[in-house]
Amino acid sequence: MSEAALIDNAIPNADVVKRAARIGAEIKNVHLSGDLPDQTIAAINSLLLERKVIFFRDQNHLDNAEQERFALRFGKLVPHPTLGAIKGTVSMIELDSARAAGRADLWHSDGTFLDRYPKIAVLRAVVMPPFGGDTIWSNTAAAYLDLPGPLQRLADELWAVHSNAFDYAVMARGSEADKKHFDEVFTRTIYETEHPVVRVHPETGERTLVLGDVVQRFVGIPKYDGQKLFQLFQSHITTPENTVRWSWKEGDVAIWDNRATQHYAVNDYGNQRRVVRRATIDGEAPIGVDGRSSVTRTKSTKESRAKVRLGTRDSRQSRGRRIFQVDFSSRIRRLCRHQGSAVLAKRVPDEPDILLGQMGPGWRP
Ligand SMILES: [Fe+2]
Repeated sequence: MSEAALIDNAIPNADVVKRAARIGAEIKNVHLSGDLPDQTIAAINSLLLERKVIFFRDQNHLDNAEQERFALRFGKLVPHPTLGAIKGTVSMIELDSARAAGRADLWHSDGTFLDRYPKIAVLRAVVMPPFGGDTIWSNTAAAYLDLPGPLQRLADELWAVHSNAFDYAVMARGSEADKKHFDEVFTRTIYETEHPVVRVHPETGERTLVLGDVVQRFVGIPKYDGQKLFQLFQSHITTPENTVRWSWKEGDVAIWDNRATQHYAVNDYGNQRRVVRRATIDGEAPIGVDGRSSVTRTKSTKESRAKVRLGTRDSRQSRGRRIFQVDFSSRIRRLCRHQGSAVLAKRVPDEPDILLGQMGPGWRP
């Protein structure tokens, strides 16, 4: 049976409405649940692969359990590695604008600091402000096709390092509480993962760009050259014609292919409340054009990180612990470089002259 016939058999074509030329469709008259027929789930999945993000209005009957039962039909539920899951669920996180880190106003695919980042996410609008709070999705397969041939070939060869300890400065509207949450919860384990900039989609065979604001650097490319390359490729992803924007109503559900999209939650609703809950489905490690898979290079907890003391360049043993004395300035979080290797450093609470540092391979004080 052809894909079109499959969709028409389970979901009438008249109930599928495109929301932008390149990405996004709404399916009407579907009552989401974990009990939908296999044929309907297959039709939603087909449409998801084609349109990248699918919207459903009027799903107010869903609670956390039923949202996860629906999500489970697309694969295995997976919790966030540092935030965990909200009580009574396997995989769900809640983004509440009234609490710290409740606003995802940066361009990203979910969880790309992991090698096997989620393949699908299912987001439900629980509380929505009377204005603002839209989400924008972009099509990273279309962005690749938009590149001229020589730039496609360059992207095919590039690899980039993604980390949850990304440059927090990209969060232009972050509060002090957001920053504290970022330092103490979101980055309680720091991951650094190398992904190909172009991955081959395991179901469609499309080439998609894997970037976003959690990219720290390109492998083998100096910082300033890398920043220009990042802006060049990322701008093709976020160009308005490559996006769809959804104005939420409470009870709406969006499901997106996290392997072929980035998204951005617009932070334009001031102090009004906005709450969404997300379930996620386990993904596969991306495979680049040359057949190599993504790899996590660093996974370290606070406890495993050495202490780095500000001061001179000496190092010594102290109570069985190596204390590195280095001369970088005492900004709260910064990415330092020494002899070509990265040092991630953060301030230790109540010890203003101590930074927790994570030494890359080859780093010597
Ligand atoms: Fe997200």
